[in-house]
This record gives sequence, structure tokens and C-alpha cells, in this order.
Amino acid sequence: MPATRRQPPHIRTAQPDDEKALARLDHDTWSTLHAVTPRPQDPTGPFFDERHQPEDYLVAELAGLVVGYIRIVCPTRLASHAHVRQIQGLAVLEEARGHGVGRALIRAAVAEARGRGARRLTLRVLGHNAPARALYASEGFTVEGVHPEEFRLDGTYVDDVVMGLRL
Ligand SMILES: CC(C)(COP(=O)(O)OP(=O)(O)OC[C@H]1O[C@@H](n2cnc3c(N)ncnc32)[C@H](O)[C@@H]1OP(=O)(O)O)[C@@H](O)C(=O)NCCC(=O)NCCS
Repeated sequence: MPATRRQPPHIRTAQPDDEKALARLDHDTWSTLHAVTPRPQDPTGPFFDERHQPEDYLVAELAGLVVGYIRIVCPTRLASHAHVRQIQGLAVLEEARGHGVGRALIRAAVAEARGRGARRLTLRVLGHNAPARALYASEGFTVEGVHPEEFRLDGTYVDDVVMGLRL
């Protein structure tokens, strides 16, 4: 990996023209460690749609290349739920992992959620996803519940773990 890739990532809100890079990233990082949907068929997209808008995403860039993203949304449209934000997607290119990009994205998401006045940030992570669980725990997220055997992936039942952070 070039030395420039070890610099702290630049985090910014996604733009519509990030679509191709994000579609490629989503396709290339797909695995049953974290994904409960089938692998995206087309690595060129589409990535954005009505429910997945650029402004819901923060992207991480290294040397001008998009190497990761995080998606933060309101879990529902209910006014009674408006104080909560949820992380619904986090991925870092395999070759950029282990150098703080995931952590930088989580911290940016926390800052974004706080900036929007949220009181809680929640997420769901598969029980067998040890790297992501370690990252979330090290940023202060705690386990708030477990849905046992919620998904069947590659023939194995996997727990879905609910985690949350008080902002
Ligand atoms: C989880 C993921 C985003 C982490 O990204 P990353 O850029 O490698 O993470 P960082 O370098 O910031 O690492 C931060 C912490 O995560 C944990 N971590 C990262 N990789 C790990 C691994 N392979 N094993 C155990 N813990 C790991 C560690 O606690 C690490 O802190 P440390 O470096 O002080 O030990 C990345 O592995 C990924 O994209 N995985 C596939 C998608 C995914 O699982 N998304 C989460 C869905 S809920």
C-alpha cells in the first residue's frame, strides 16, 4: 500500500458523482461477515436510490480515492423517534483496513448525529462480525440486545446484535 494511504482519511458528505466508487466498494467488500443481502450483481451500480441518498452517507478518502463509507439515517419517520440516528452501513476497502479509516468514519458519524441534535446512535451488527464489534465497543457502543439466530447465512444461523451509544 502506498505511504499516502496511511495518512488520516478525509471525511466528507457523499456527492451524487460518488455513485460509481461506492457501488464498486459495496460490491468488492461484500461478505457474509456483515451482509444479509445478496452480493450486488453489478459493480457499476446503481448505488443511490430513493431510500439511499448521497446526503445520508459520509465517505472517507485517501489520496483522493474513496476507500470507505458510513450511512447514518433516522430509523423511522416518526416524530417520537426523531432523537435517534442509526448507522445502516459501514464498509472500508480491504486494502485500506487496519489504519483507522473505520474509526474515523464512526467518529464522524457520532459528530454528525450530535450536530443534528440526536440523543442516541444505534446500529445492528452480526454476532460473528468480530472486527466491527470490536470497533464499535472501542468507541463506546454497548450491546443493548441480541436477536438470536436472526439470519441464516451460508447455512448457519447468525445472531443480530443491537448496539447503542448515548450521545
Ligand atoms: C469493520 C471495518 C469497517 C473496520 O474498518 P478499519 O478501517 O479496518 O478499522 P480501523 O482500522 O479503524 O480499526 C479500528 C478498530 O476496529 C477493530 N478491528 C479492526 N479490524 C479488526 C480485526 N481484523 N479483528 C479484530 N478487530 C479489528 C479494532 O478494535 C481496531 O482498533 P485497533 O486498531 O486499535 O486495534 C472493516 O473491517 C470492514 O469494512 N468490514 C466489512 C464491513 C463491515 O463489517 N461493516 C460493519 C457492518 S455492521
